[in-house]
Amino acid sequence: MDKKIYLFANWKMYLNVEESVKLAKDYAKLKYPAKSVEVAVFPSSIAIESVKKILQKSKMFVGPQNTFWADKGGYTGEVSSTTYKEIGCTHALVGHAERRHIFKESNHDVRMKLDALLQLSLTPVLCVGETAEDRKKNETAEVLEAQIRAAFMDISWPENITPIIAYEPVWAVGTGESCEPGEAEKASEMISNWTEKLINKKPVILYGGSVRGENIGRYLERAHISGVLVGGASAKIETWSELVAQLK
Ligand code: PGA
Repeated sequence: MDKKIYLFANWKMYLNVEESVKLAKDYAKLKYPAKSVEVAVFPSSIAIESVKKILQKSKMFVGPQNTFWADKGGYTGEVSSTTYKEIGCTHALVGHAERRHIFKESNHDVRMKLDALLQLSLTPVLCVGETAEDRKKNETAEVLEAQIRAAFMDISWPENITPIIAYEPVWAVGTGESCEPGEAEKASEMISNWTEKLINKKPVILYGGSVRGENIGRYLERAHISGVLVGGASAKIETWSELVAQLK
C-alpha cells in the first residue's frame, strides 16, 4: 500500500495494568511493515506510563481515551490534558462514541476538550458517528455535520498538528456489525469536505467499528480512509497481529 496508514488501538477498559503491560510487550515484538505505518495506543489511564516505557523504542504513540478541558481545579475524578502531556502522551481520543452515549458528553464538551488539547500541542483524535436511529431516519449526514461543525467552527488550527478524525458509526462500535466500506467511504468524504472548509486543512480520516483482520483491507483501499481505530481486536495480540499482517 502506498499511502501512510494509521493503525490506532483503543484498549477501552478491557485490561488491567498487568495485562496492559503484557500486551504492550507483545505489540513491541511484532513486525510492522517498515514504511509509513503510524501506530498509536490508547490504554487505560492508569497503565499509560508503564505502556509508554515499553513502546518508546518502537516509536508507537501513546495517549488517553478521554481528557478533561480544565487545567487544574476542583474536578473530582478528572485528569487534565496537561497531566497527560507531563507523562509523555502525544495523542488523545476525544468524543469517543462510548463517552458521548454512556457518559452523555455533548458536542460542546467535545469542543472544550479539543481546544485544551490543541493549546498544549497534543494531537486530538476526534471521534464522530451516527446512531442506528439517526441512520434509520436518514439523518446521518446532519448528525455528522453537526458534530464536525461544533468541533471545528472558528477554531484556529495549529499548523503543526494533523487533524485526525475517526468516523465510527455508533451501531458498529463493539457490536461485530461493521459498516459497509462504501458507506464508510461516503461518510468519510463528507467529513473530509466539511473539515477542510472549516479549518482549511485536509484531515486524516480513520474508520472505526468492528474492524478485524478480515475486513481492514477493504477500508484501507478506500480513497478517503487512511487508517483504522480498533477496539476489541486491538486488545488481544492474536487479533491485533491479524490486523498488522494485512498491512504488508
Ligand atoms: P470496536 O471498537 O473495534 O470494538 O468496534 C472501536 C472503537 O471503539 O474505537
